[in-house]
Amino acid sequence: MRISPLLIKSSIQDSKVATISPTSKTATKKIINTIDPTKDLNILEYGPGTGALTIPLLKKISPESKILAIERNQRLYNHLSNVEDGRLKLIKGDVLNLPQILRGLNLREEFNIILSGIPFSFLPEAKAEKILEQTEKSLTREGKFIAYQFSPKLKSLLSTKFSSIQESKTLLNIPPLRIYVCQKNPKN
Ligand SMILES: C[S@@+](CC[C@H](N)C(=O)[O-])C[C@H]1O[C@@H](n2cnc3c(N)ncnc32)[C@H](O)[C@@H]1O
Repeated sequence: MRISPLLIKSSIQDSKVATISPTSKTATKKIINTIDPTKDLNILEYGPGTGALTIPLLKKISPESKILAIERNQRLYNHLSNVEDGRLKLIKGDVLNLPQILRGLNLREEFNIILSGIPFSFLPEAKAEKILEQTEKSLTREGKFIAYQFSPKLKSLLSTKFSSIQESKTLLNIPPLRIYVCQKNPKN
């Protein structure tokens, strides 16, 4: 387990950081392997934190792909702002305000991939539902929502928005992580 002093400091002041260790390398690999890097992708990431997924993802995606990452914690936002890669746009904000954030950026785009590490179990159900609704609307027809969570609570809510949910678990993360790969219109 890699404890991060930055995550410890951030989570003491902000319970929504919800972890003191970044997602493990094994879990990161498993999550990133669900993404096809041969395509040019428009990726939206909720809660990048220290960049545990963002940074390996930048190494894997094509030169024409883009990541828009939204982080609400100021300290973690400042930390990740040091990443210099023209394909990454980092926004300090709350994903609950996704429509306003996209309008502010003059973006009407749909995303092929929406990746989320935010702790849905810390949110009242109405807010979690609002985020999932916005997520579903912001995906391309065959886009994927990939959510990784410590808690199993999210699954029932996911099934109200997505017709296909593939669930896997990785024990090589502390705590063990559930990965949900969701699509509204799966190919098969
Ligand atoms: C469990 S950590 C995951 C961090 C990182 N993605 C990783 O895999 O190690 C959750 C992250 O989501 C951020 N977060 C929580 N709620 C958020 C929200 N509503 N909008 C944007 N970011 C949020 C936290 O500040 C934190 O960085």
